[in-house]
Amino acid sequence: MAKLIGLTPSGLLVLLTLWLSLCAAQQNNNNNNNNNNNRGGNRGGNRGGNRGGNQGGNRGGNQGGNRGGGNRQTPQQKAAQKPGGISTAKDGSTMLDQTVQINGLEIRYRVSAPAEQFTAASGVQGGSAAANTPGNMGMNVLLHGDGGQSFFDFPNQGVNANLMGVAVLAPDRNLKWGGADRNGQQRPDGVAHSQAVADLVKQELPKVVSFNQSDVFFTGVSGGSLTLAGFFMLAHMGDFPNSGVLLNCGAMAPQVDFTPQAAAAMAGTRIHFQSTTGELQSLQKSIPQSVRAYEKAASNAGLNNQQINALQTVDNSPNGGHCAFDGRDFVSGVQLMASNFENVVLPGGSGEVNGIGNVKNGVVGNERLQFSAGRN
Ligand SMILES: *[C@@H]1O[C@H](CO)[C@@H](O)[C@H](O)[C@H]1NC(C)=O
Repeated sequence: MAKLIGLTPSGLLVLLTLWLSLCAAQQNNNNNNNNNNNRGGNRGGNRGGNRGGNQGGNRGGNQGGNRGGGNRQTPQQKAAQKPGGISTAKDGSTMLDQTVQINGLEIRYRVSAPAEQFTAASGVQGGSAAANTPGNMGMNVLLHGDGGQSFFDFPNQGVNANLMGVAVLAPDRNLKWGGADRNGQQRPDGVAHSQAVADLVKQELPKVVSFNQSDVFFTGVSGGSLTLAGFFMLAHMGDFPNSGVLLNCGAMAPQVDFTPQAAAAMAGTRIHFQSTTGELQSLQKSIPQSVRAYEKAASNAGLNNQQINALQTVDNSPNGGHCAFDGRDFVSGVQLMASNFENVVLPGGSGEVNGIGNVKNGVVGNERLQFSAGRN
């Protein structure tokens, strides 16, 4: 075969390598629903590797091994080096960052709340609440985008509008909610990851902090929004009646069937889709698909168009790239929406977001979002 097309085995190897890297590049284009940091990370890794390699002797060898390891280290391994524990959130409330095992998955989460709302067992000084006892504050649980940026930024940290900020780190080597695509299925671990998030809120968090389980909201960023819309909401919204979900820069059509309970909950679930004119190409397709699917679900739950428009809204008017809702960049854009959660999602919110205007456009009649040419 190699002879027939006039190629030596090494020539074939070069071709194969080229083909593999083309595939990898394409996969990045299709699947990377956000990450800012990957490129920097790889550059750093290569530099470390070369430095170590140039140094002689055992020490050089070891250093090269460890630092160059930055190259092979997964985003999950890098995240594990950032310490957890107890610290102070920006608003002065207490932040607990720890990892628990849920259904065999390592689930790292952050929760920020007034110290006294934590349980004695949480280890927080001044934590005096009884475990598994409801409190009167609710929660806003955030799922970050691919790569985990918003877990560490924690844009919903502190207590806002009587909601404790919670962020959860995806239990995946690439910190991708739902995991890498397999066999044509997007985010194939979406079911297991969603179950872990639901179990975290229902079973684990009540052990460490006292909160109102009937007042739990969700925020997605990019890949986190895809996982919420594609998996979590279909399986678990029945556990969170009269909740709300803010889907920032990402959404997709349902990847699993609604449970009967979640289908019924669509009659009372507030959903806002927020995007930008310069959204990623793949999301320019999948967000409108998601809008249509959830609109239909609300209709199936018995709502008329006017009722649907009161519950489900969509906006992509900001002139910015992926998640750049402020027209500037990813981090500040995500922060803008997190800071306006109350206005946008909670009952009675004005819908006004500084710099954008009113984002509460009912989905019925606004399914065809207008995007610009977009980026990759
Ligand atoms: C818990 O939240 C629900 C829904 O917002 C509310 O009706 C109820 O009064 C809250 N309970 C407490 C103890 O604050």
